[in-house]
Amino acid sequence: MHFQWYPGHMTKARRMMQENIKLIDLIIELVDARIPLSSRNPDIDDLGRGKARLILLNKADLAEERLNDAWAEYFKSKGYLAVKVNSKKGGGIKSIQSVIQEACREKTERDRRRGILNRPVRAMVVGIPNVGKSTFINALAGKACAKTGNKPGVTKGKQWIRLNKNVELLDTPGILWPKFEDQEVGLKLAFIGSIKDEILQTEELGAELIRYLNRAYPGVLEEKYTIPGSEDPYCCLNDIAKSRHCLVRGSELDTGKAAGILLDDFRGGRLGRITLEEPEL
Ligand code: G4P
Repeated sequence: MHFQWYPGHMTKARRMMQENIKLIDLIIELVDARIPLSSRNPDIDDLGRGKARLILLNKADLAEERLNDAWAEYFKSKGYLAVKVNSKKGGGIKSIQSVIQEACREKTERDRRRGILNRPVRAMVVGIPNVGKSTFINALAGKACAKTGNKPGVTKGKQWIRLNKNVELLDTPGILWPKFEDQEVGLKLAFIGSIKDEILQTEELGAELIRYLNRAYPGVLEEKYTIPGSEDPYCCLNDIAKSRHCLVRGSELDTGKAAGILLDDFRGGRLGRITLEEPEL
């Protein structure tokens, strides 16, 4: 699901978020493990003031394991509970229920002191588009959960998924808007496919990714595409086009197509596990 964000969309998303946040105790914020900072929107800190917080490094399967751990440490040092997950395959999902309890321990204690016992924790999932919110909700809720559908005649309201006797999850995630005004951030969001490719030309985007990979993951492109390797990203694109037989009119190299292949391979994890930003610890 891709969005073009206009001020109107952001205002609407913000209003929905403000409304829903009133109903919950815990914010489960998904970030992309390949760009944990660039895929966050710090506005959530403001919107979620006073709520328990949990950060999930989703798509951890696509990111470098050493850096997944470093990022989890980073967020913990900032006072969040943080866990890495792979929502697509279910990795890390089993432990989430206990992490949710842990994240809400203070609230549960407060309730207990006030004599409120067994009130379930209410949580909501938030994150930028495409970060894996729906996949995560499905993985967490599993098949066992029966949702009350929006059938005609059934009162339309907030739908809650009962995860167990202690936790209820709002079934619609909150959508945060990416902060793509910052060029560096925008570029990384485009690499992972969070911003439409048309905003940047595919070829230009591919060249930028090559620049990054040559610096942070030397040798990866050479090995994947059996190319000699070059400092010049456009030279690399030419070589990838040659190696993958990307041709226009039968003979000219199609570097746009090569860039598309490169971006697809990166997004699909076929260049290996790659993280595009490192935490400053
Ligand atoms: P959203 O609700 O936040 O917009 O995201 P959504 O769940 O639709 O997920 C966006 C894409 O990310 C989906 O891929 C989904 O399968 C993938 N995804 C979600 N979590 C993970 C994860 O932990 N690891 C990996 N590798 N991928 C994940 P898609 O291409 O749109 O669909 P599909 O090809 O997977 O069916």
